[in-house]
Amino acid sequence: MKTYLVTGAAGFIGANYLKYLLGKYDDIRVVVLDALTYAGNLGTIAKDIDNERCHFFKGNIGDSELLDRLFGEYKFDYIVNFAAESHVDRSIEDPQLFLMTNILGTQNLLNAARRAWVTGKDEAGYPMWRKGVRFHQVSTDEVYGSLGEDGFFTEATPLCPHSPYSASKASADMIVMAYFDTYKMPATITRCSNNYGPYHFPEKLIPLIIKNILEGKKLPVYGDGSNVRDWLYVEDHCKAIDLVVTKGINGEVYNVGGHNEKTNLEIVKTIIAHIHQSMIEHPEYRSLLKTKEKDADGLPAIDWINDGLINFVKDRLGHDQRYAIDPTKITETLGWEPETRFEEGIVTTIDWYLKHQDWVNQVTSGDYQSYYDKMYLKR
Ligand code: NAD
Ligand code: TYD
Repeated sequence: MKTYLVTGAAGFIGANYLKYLLGKYDDIRVVVLDALTYAGNLGTIAKDIDNERCHFFKGNIGDSELLDRLFGEYKFDYIVNFAAESHVDRSIEDPQLFLMTNILGTQNLLNAARRAWVTGKDEAGYPMWRKGVRFHQVSTDEVYGSLGEDGFFTEATPLCPHSPYSASKASADMIVMAYFDTYKMPATITRCSNNYGPYHFPEKLIPLIIKNILEGKKLPVYGDGSNVRDWLYVEDHCKAIDLVVTKGINGEVYNVGGHNEKTNLEIVKTIIAHIHQSMIEHPEYRSLLKTKEKDADGLPAIDWINDGLINFVKDRLGHDQRYAIDPTKITETLGWEPETRFEEGIVTTIDWYLKHQDWVNQVTSGDYQSYYDKMYLKR
């Protein structure tokens, strides 16, 4: 039986991964470590941590004593590190927290794994590692910087991060690789494009736009809306991580993405159209629409949303223009392919949000509104 330490599993991707793992394997044990920041919600994984194969600890990946205790008690085979500060806009406001969590936190986790997993030294002085263990770092395509109109990020693309967030993730990647090169630590990295799907915190583009449409609030589009992101359904990302953790080669980086490039404006317009369509097909959703701008059937007044709500606001500082992943390596070596087409995934996602307004209300009941006012009122 393999024992996993999954950090940051009360957040968006970590929670989806935890659900995927527990659903796929019935012979594993999972320990979740999460600091429950604004982005972490215990409610998201309440049912999962009820499972007798899953144990939850509230704590920080920067806490060495706690890590040593957990490593001692659970003898982890795999560490999958999702824990991070993940929002570029927040990193522009407060870079230092990103350095603390994403760089020093990751290094602290690597050190704890080294203390627990090293069994001795070989003749050349390299540490010897317990058989079958692996440290997996969940990283992002943003470490590569920004593309022009053409081309894709491959694993050989030089790291050239621009935001404090991406710079902190690039630093963490380099430290993970330094541990592989220097100590031969069994480690892998995945660098994925933008994810979307259930449990995405409504500060990020897609869930924020869904929430604002329902509330009849302006839809903030940074700059001219031409920035391009390469969207991947979150479960496809989880499947890629699972393949790399169980079958990847130590010291390797794998890019993960679905060739699904969309401008931000396209995303916003797609969401508007699908919410409208959903309300035609499911009259029960119409009561979720808080705006007065409804047509005679109680449907969102689509022209008004398109013309009246879309709001081009001041651009993000240092806004990367385009991200696009070339996933050839993971496809050819591990057989991974994205399974969910964007056209299906976005409908599933919107439907999920329409059905789970209680989740949205719960996760935005804290200081969400003050964050929102700070970031958007004067933008
Ligand atoms: P998220 O912000 O939704 O969740 C982060 C989780 O980490 C939260 O549960 C939070 O409580 C926890 N956390 C934060 N600081 C912690 C600390 N010091 N100790 C323990 N837990 C802590 O993030 P996400 O979107 O789920 O992203 C997860 C990982 O995937 C991140 O490493 C991110 O860089 C990476 N990633 C995200 C995307 C994306 O599109 N969201 C794409 C590629 C890679
Ligand atoms: P985001 O979801 O923050 O992800 P990332 O910055 O990691 O790619 O943003 C996705 C894109 O949407 C990015 O180009 C910024 C843009 N954006 C807006 O136009 N308006 C918004 O309110 C937000 C949150 C993002």
